[in-house]
Amino acid sequence: MNIGVNNGSIQECTADTIVVNLFKDVSTPGGATGAVDSALGEAISEIIASGDLTGEAAEVGVLYPRGAIPAKRVLVVGLGEAKSFDLEGVRKAAAAAIKKAHQLGAEHVATIVHGAGIAGLPTAASAQATVIGSLLAAYEFDADKQKNEDKSPVASLTLVEFDEAKIGSCEEGAAAAEAIARGVYLARDLVNMPPNVATPTKMANVAREIGQEYGMKITVGGRNWAARRNMGAFLAVAKGAGEKPKFIVLEHNADRDDLVPIVLVGKGITFDTGGISIKPTQGMGNMKSDMGGAAAVLGAMKAVGGLNLPLRVIGITPCTENMPDAFAYRPADVIKASNGKTIEIISTDAEGRMVLADGLVYAGSYNPAAVVDLATLTGACVVALGKGISAGMFSNDDSLRDALLAASENTHERLWPLPLWDDYKQAIKSDVADMKNSGGRMGGVATSAIFLKAFTDYPWAHLDIAGMALNDKESGYTTRGGTGFGVRVLVDFLRGWQS
Ligand code: BES
Ligand code: MN
Ligand code: ZN
Repeated sequence: MNIGVNNGSIQECTADTIVVNLFKDVSTPGGATGAVDSALGEAISEIIASGDLTGEAAEVGVLYPRGAIPAKRVLVVGLGEAKSFDLEGVRKAAAAAIKKAHQLGAEHVATIVHGAGIAGLPTAASAQATVIGSLLAAYEFDADKQKNEDKSPVASLTLVEFDEAKIGSCEEGAAAAEAIARGVYLARDLVNMPPNVATPTKMANVAREIGQEYGMKITVGGRNWAARRNMGAFLAVAKGAGEKPKFIVLEHNADRDDLVPIVLVGKGITFDTGGISIKPTQGMGNMKSDMGGAAAVLGAMKAVGGLNLPLRVIGITPCTENMPDAFAYRPADVIKASNGKTIEIISTDAEGRMVLADGLVYAGSYNPAAVVDLATLTGACVVALGKGISAGMFSNDDSLRDALLAASENTHERLWPLPLWDDYKQAIKSDVADMKNSGGRMGGVATSAIFLKAFTDYPWAHLDIAGMALNDKESGYTTRGGTGFGVRVLVDFLRGWQS
């Protein structure tokens, strides 16, 4: 979908479909919606009076102007209650409108910037939210199927703003949204790809493409590379894998020592069978999403490149399958990570923390101002916070946690703080090693985080996104399948970075 910005009146637009909006309990619309209402001889007011249009959030009314204005159809999208309206409302309204436009076979859509008018939200943020809500709702995975009977996608979306003084901000917001949406699309694609396609090698090739596109430094380490760096924890998981493991490092502004280094680490298990501690058959296919953290990191790096952020951002994604095999690591094995710490394997299904251990140690080599890791780490996190509601967040640094919470608020990619108390160490105490890789069922999300903490010595936050990477059904601007969760909150956090 092509994105544009135009200065003018929406009722004069030549797009086949124009979008205006309506708050709940408004009987005579004002602003741009009012201008369209007048041009249509008060047709919108009439429908409101009839009760067929209420302004309920995500409601979409369709009107046919019959020559009164150039557009073939007018969509009136509901914004809900004016007093609780925010940027998330903007994204949801934009999503509802673009989905309706697509259903109706619209080709060129022009929309007002939801939120920037009567609601009084900042213009650039409103434009960004309008565009991102539209782009994310319009996402479709290009599945490998012979027949695709769907309507062709909307070709263009133009933001139409009457006030010339706001055009610059609209363009700025729209451009940022496009860069961020590209990152989310990439993360969704990677999760949606079948696990025989989205292999560690594929992840490395995608990272190379990002590196090439934005002039980032790229390092792809295989088994020998990792062995030279004593990455025993990463290699233990990779031991049973048929697909070659890849430890991927992407660096934006690699040679800029003057910039603050921030490191993103993503769990990249391209398929998690559980290994020797094998998972039950039921739902195992969902474990293709176990590289959701790595996908979010690569998506965020793509957005960082597109926005050319003035930070040194390093993305690290240790990628491997977790397979049962004659060579696979086993329960009772003792493994040494790259910082010298030893780990007693209780469950080979607790593999995410293993690959992250070496990822986090490697992150420390950049002398980072902050490290954020994302991982589909524990079922326990999903039990605690629910599916598709919020990621769990652990941090050893209050200001980093607050910055991430602010980004979470801005983007509505929810993060919720969970405790990192030392008391949880008890559960992973081992007789034969420095720690166990599993603390059992009780407090499973916290004991996984306290395990990771042993591999960090810098400001750090861990986001457990187990419940967030995959969606069973579409809702709002989140499509079915891969969600791309994490890209938007990471990018907002990075854009807002104050050193
Ligand atoms: N990838 C899973 C966690 C997961 C579960 C992600 C559900 C998405 C949805 C992880 O590797 C895992 O198997 N965790 C175990 C840890 C346990 C063995 C300590 C779990 O949560 O059961
Ligand atoms: Mn597992
Ligand atoms: Zn896993």
